[in-house]
Amino acid sequence: MRALMCEKFGPIEDLKITDAPEPKATPGHVVIDVKAAGLNFPDVLCVQGLYQIKPETPFVPGQEGAGVVTEIGDGVDNLNVGDRVAFVGFNGAVAEKALVQAATVTRIPDNMPFEAAAGFTLVYATSYYALARRAKLKPGETLLVLGAAGGVGLATVELGKAMGARVIAAASTAEKLAVAREAGADEIINYAEEDLKSRIKELTGGNGVDVIYDPVGGDYAEQALRGIGWEGRYLVIGFAAGDIPKIPLNLVLLKGCQIVGVFWGAYSMRSPGDNLEDLSALYGLYNEGKINPRANVSYPLADAKRGFEDLAARRAIGKIVITM
Ligand SMILES: NC(=O)c1ccc[n+]([C@@H]2O[C@H](COP(=O)([O-])OP(=O)(O)OC[C@H]3O[C@@H](n4cnc5c(N)ncnc54)[C@H](OP(=O)(O)O)[C@@H]3O)[C@@H](O)[C@H]2O)c1
Repeated sequence: MRALMCEKFGPIEDLKITDAPEPKATPGHVVIDVKAAGLNFPDVLCVQGLYQIKPETPFVPGQEGAGVVTEIGDGVDNLNVGDRVAFVGFNGAVAEKALVQAATVTRIPDNMPFEAAAGFTLVYATSYYALARRAKLKPGETLLVLGAAGGVGLATVELGKAMGARVIAAASTAEKLAVAREAGADEIINYAEEDLKSRIKELTGGNGVDVIYDPVGGDYAEQALRGIGWEGRYLVIGFAAGDIPKIPLNLVLLKGCQIVGVFWGAYSMRSPGDNLEDLSALYGLYNEGKINPRANVSYPLADAKRGFEDLAARRAIGKIVITM
């Protein structure tokens, strides 16, 4: 089978398309005929050896995808050959076949295209866990999303609207903000050109926002926190800007706010039942037309490197998907 291969940690240009042996089903696992793989920012870190967990090399990158189950390992009773599924795993998705732990595989709605399903699980499940379970976002509250046209950002804009919030999208270019607006954002802030804290105050009549969703970090984090309202919740999602912010704790005291860590991967392993409930709620929202997962950009396997380059260069808008 053809697969993208990371032979050793290094620059994206070193990734190669190779012929790799086809996987065979092992106990507790299934083999999936991958139709599309979804890329996420951690994939870019992983191939460079910069991710918090380092896989053994060589490895096939890609933490999620969608396809059809072709083989079932011993002890798997939740799936059948022929099922249309989405899956999440620690690498292995950017290939024509993937061996995946059955517990991380979910059946997708019949009308959900593989390209949409490939980039669905990780971003929507993270955002749902963050908004519903960690922030307990309520209808009518104001939600600020940083990096609002990125993978998790765009999913959060949609979910925030589906949950009845007023959504303020913040991003670095007019093109990115237009996409966030299309996904339902009520207000927009270009934080490359405007002062983030002042604009938040302007848009909220001086009250500040109730919930902040931050997958970016860097200098924006403190500016955003200075715009949070009384008893607000600040969701720490990731650090795509590179720098891990150091927050003056007096701000947290003065605003009576909470800084809330969100680590979906650990949650999905520690509380698999709750995570499956979340995914089933998300598939419900999809069937009701309240969220619209899609591949904003798709590249064929032969051009997979371009997807990694887009993410690394801050060019990506929404989800990038690699089709097999
Ligand atoms: N905690 C969890 O459970 C969890 C789950 C999934 C992902 N994450 C994390 O969330 C973050 C975003 O992931 P993603 O897949 O959504 O990434 P993405 O699609 O690349 O989005 C990240 C956004 O960050 C902004 N950004 C600012 N500086 C950047 C830089 N130097 N390079 C790249 N982007 C930069 C960009 O928006 P602007 O240009 O508009 O600023 C970009 O759209 C990552 O740190 C990832 O590890 C965490």
